[in-house]
Amino acid sequence: MIAIIRKVLGSFSLCLALAISPLAAEPVTPDLTDKLRRLLQEEMRSIQGAMTSIHSAMVMGQHEAVAQSAQQIHDSFILKQSLTEQDRKDLVSAVPEGFIELDKEFHRLAASLAEAGRNRNTNEQHRIFGEMTGNCLECHSEYVSKRFPDVNYDKEQ
Ligand code: HEC
Repeated sequence: MIAIIRKVLGSFSLCLALAISPLAAEPVTPDLTDKLRRLLQEEMRSIQGAMTSIHSAMVMGQHEAVAQSAQQIHDSFILKQSLTEQDRKDLVSAVPEGFIELDKEFHRLAASLAEAGRNRNTNEQHRIFGEMTGNCLECHSEYVSKRFPDVNYDKEQ
């Protein structure tokens, strides 16, 4: 059902599509330059590894390791990497504002998780880890729908 709605809405203008989001968001991947796509995939793989390490460290109470890996995610922020002026322009024109917002929110959460690690607060770590996982699902279901068509996440549920 959602796939059909997406298909129908996909033909409307981006403006209208964003107004009815999240169902209507267009996949971002086809609009990225090769360089940006490579950078993004590298960042994603390092995030994936860091999230796995954080999960293990969290359940064993290894707070310093949680803080370290969360900080690593925060520091890998694609927009802070040494992109050239042209790369920045390419990125901004290739992705909708909602994508940039989600990426920023995700990296803000990573900073809070690092803080919760330094504060040795397991409850906070668990809560923030869950929120971050929600961000992966939200971004992949809204903006990476071509590549990950089976992520059927609805934030409101
Ligand atoms: C703001 C958007 C966004 C968020 C948040 C996000 N991703 Fe992604 N992710 C992407 C995009 C876009 C791609 C696809 C890149 C491509 O193939 O062009 C991707 C691809 C991936 C891949 C495949 C990488 C590869 O080798 O090609 C993995 C693994 C991944 N994400 C893990 C995660 C995890 C884990 C999280 C959360 C902890 C996360 N992502 C959060 C946008 C996001």
